Amino acid sequence: MAPMTSTERRPLLNRRLAEFGTTIFAEMSALAVRTGAINLGQGFPDTDGPESVREAAVRALRDGRGNQYPPGPGVPELREAIAEHQAKRYGLTYDPDREVLVTAGATEALAASLLALVEPGDEVIALEPYYDSYAASIALAGGTRVPVTLRSTGPDDPQGPRFRLDLDELRDAVTDRTRLLLLNTPHNPTGTVLTREELAAIAELAVERDLLVVTDEVYEHLVFDGEHVPLASFPGMRERTVTISSAGKTFSFTGWKVGWVTATPELVSAVRSAKQFLTFVSAGPFQYAVAEALALPDSYFHELREDLRAKRDLLAAGLADAGFGVHRTQGTYFVTTDIRPLGESDGFAFCRDLPERAGVVAVPNAVFYDHQDAGAPFVRFAFCKRESVLTEAVARLGTALG
Ligand SMILES: Cc1ncc(COP(=O)(O)O)c(C=O)c1O
Repeated sequence: MAPMTSTERRPLLNRRLAEFGTTIFAEMSALAVRTGAINLGQGFPDTDGPESVREAAVRALRDGRGNQYPPGPGVPELREAIAEHQAKRYGLTYDPDREVLVTAGATEALAASLLALVEPGDEVIALEPYYDSYAASIALAGGTRVPVTLRSTGPDDPQGPRFRLDLDELRDAVTDRTRLLLLNTPHNPTGTVLTREELAAIAELAVERDLLVVTDEVYEHLVFDGEHVPLASFPGMRERTVTISSAGKTFSFTGWKVGWVTATPELVSAVRSAKQFLTFVSAGPFQYAVAEALALPDSYFHELREDLRAKRDLLAAGLADAGFGVHRTQGTYFVTTDIRPLGESDGFAFCRDLPERAGVVAVPNAVFYDHQDAGAPFVRFAFCKRESVLTEAVARLGTALG
């Protein structure tokens, strides 16, 4: 018998990553291309951000700013702009030299934070459904993810159903091994925005149990109902919270991958230790452009929000007309729907079928769940697309399903 090769003994892929094959976005986007369907699966805008910001990037490239390795923590202009943004919008003061770190998008900020702060055996509590990179980054760090499920208030909610955090469930999930809470508000994929009261309760719990918190606030400027309150602004939280955001959603340049972390010098230093061996630095010229973008007048942020609010309303109404159980989107790019009113129950099967059936691509929320049963009947649609695209998608869904 031939001797076993090393590949037979052991899979090539690090076993920590075994459960993370091709992402659903790749599968669904390929399906969209093959069928010519409208892709409302992935959350990226189909129009670019402000011309002035694009021009700022071109200027930086031409002037030779950022074409060579920028400083490890990020270019000073951007770190100062991030600190000013936190101060002006939220009254949170951060020292741009010691308390701000620029990353390759929020994705790297999340990965570096988890690699820096989590050791094997540590438990990380994440709100379920969760953005897919959370699970992979927790796994890479050797941590154990502990999902706390956001639950639908159901069709009887007089204001329309939304997903809510059960604070008792969150409290019960904390053990002696819990190292950190990984939060996301506004929340992808449910569109829920945690309220001031919910955040205050989370903050109290974090202080009481001495937990670190990593909070992903990439949709901070996309709140349509309610308000975005950074968790770091609650008593006892600034010293234990790593706040993450990025330019992708706020300025409609998701391909630039400019993100950032704000936290205490000790936390930033820990995150930087991991970050320096992931990318070291990235996006030199874009960093200068994002520094200018963060200083755009309030009218820019207002118009972005109102434009997306109208798109949310268009898509939500169309989905309701087509027979979906539409959940309230308070923020983000996404509407989560319940397919049970359509007589369906398996979001995976529904989404695999939808491009052929209706010419539209959506994503099954179950991919964001450990508790598959809890996620099975929910399907996510993105509305960060041109009005004409949304109108056509809604018409197709109405014809095929309505
Ligand atoms: C909740 C959430 N966090 C992080 C990201 C990634 O952000 P970035 O493109 O800046 O890495 C996304 C992108 O869809 C997201 O939805």
